[in-house]
Amino acid sequence: MAYKQVILGAAVAAFTFSLAACGGEAATEVEAAAVAAGPETAVVEERQANFKAIGKSFKAIRTQLEGSSPDTSAIAAAATDMNAYAMLLDDHFPEGTSVDDGYDTEALAAIWDKPDDFTDAKARLVDASAQMITLAEGGDVAAIGDQVGAVGGSCKNCHDNFRLDTDYARLSDPEPAPPTPGSLVSDPAVRVWDLPLRLTHWSFALLVPALWWSAENSEWALHKRFGVALLGLLVFRILWGFLGTRTARFSSFVKGPATIWGYLTGKVAHTIGHNPVGALSVLGLLTVMLVQVGAGLFAGDPYDGATGPLNPLVGVATADTLTQWHEWFYWVVLGFVALHLSAIALYGIFKQNDLVSAMLSGTKTVKGEVEENDRVMWLRFVLCSGVAVGLALWIANGAPPLS
Ligand code: HEC
Repeated sequence: MAYKQVILGAAVAAFTFSLAACGGEAATEVEAAAVAAGPETAVVEERQANFKAIGKSFKAIRTQLEGSSPDTSAIAAAATDMNAYAMLLDDHFPEGTSVDDGYDTEALAAIWDKPDDFTDAKARLVDASAQMITLAEGGDVAAIGDQVGAVGGSCKNCHDNFRLDTDYARLSDPEPAPPTPGSLVSDPAVRVWDLPLRLTHWSFALLVPALWWSAENSEWALHKRFGVALLGLLVFRILWGFLGTRTARFSSFVKGPATIWGYLTGKVAHTIGHNPVGALSVLGLLTVMLVQVGAGLFAGDPYDGATGPLNPLVGVATADTLTQWHEWFYWVVLGFVALHLSAIALYGIFKQNDLVSAMLSGTKTVKGEVEENDRVMWLRFVLCSGVAVGLALWIANGAPPLS
């Protein structure tokens, strides 16, 4: 008994000691950070204020261009400011002020590792803003619009290479203004939708009417094939919602009520991908299609010719009920499709936002600096489509025991 208490006591002591040791370590780290954050903090703050000012001048220029009659002298003034700020950058990056040195900054160590590239990146902004002054003084609004692309390109080029890429950093950037009608600014198209997502989407668009047509015309063999294809696509789309590119992933677009409300009231900005309201439509469509396919798998009457592949797994009464559901639920699917199509039409008419071409080409022209969608990881695509095809075929064969 006694020796157990000794062991326990020793364990407690060891634990307490290790905690104390951890605490000590943490304290030294904080001290280290405090020391590192010491001497140059003022410069770091100054450069951040300077970048904010650059952002503001850039925004002032773009705001002018969005108006119906841009004031070129205001643009010239903003470009002059921006050019002056750009020239200050030379003094803002003393050695040892990167994020790795413990400063509260987004400046990457690459700035000092590749000094020549950084000098070039600064020069690009200086040149682009100088050119903007000349063009603004010349008063050619279309040329100024093109030059906005060059200036924005210089920001992006430098940020891509030398600025810590955090989501919040992107959000705190000069907010990309929503595309406006007749805008003079020609920005480059950015990646929005990946290829597998687009193919899946347009296959849905073809399959839903094809399923209707084949049922109307009692083409049951075709109807079943289309149904299995739809099932496979749905499984793929769901897996892709976890393993696909950023705009395909559910986590990037499914938001809570607060964000949805914020978006509706214009408080939450949105750039690319599904907006928080569109997300509801995506989830709705996927769900109703899944329910419809699910019922179809069990539907039918073996004595009536057509049955879904899983029909033998359920009793006649259940199959009968599911068949009835399968028939009337098609109207629910149609309802969701109609909502989806009207939303797209409204976006096109009232927001001049052409969702259809973005879904066709996968790219979109967006104003300002926007984080593009990432590229497809094809191995993940192979994995998702393999599972989807396998599962669909297995179900098409009546889900036989796997052994
Ligand atoms: C030569 C490289 C370079 C160029 C060119 C550049 N930036 Fe930056 N920018 C940075 C770096 C590095 C930071 C991070 C600074 C920090 O956190 O200390 C930054 C930060 C910013 C910030 C955040 C400032 C803050 O802390 O709140 C804004 C806004 C910004 N840049 C806008 C722009 C705009 C707009 C342009 C183009 C007109 C531009 N930048 C061009 C390198 C650059």
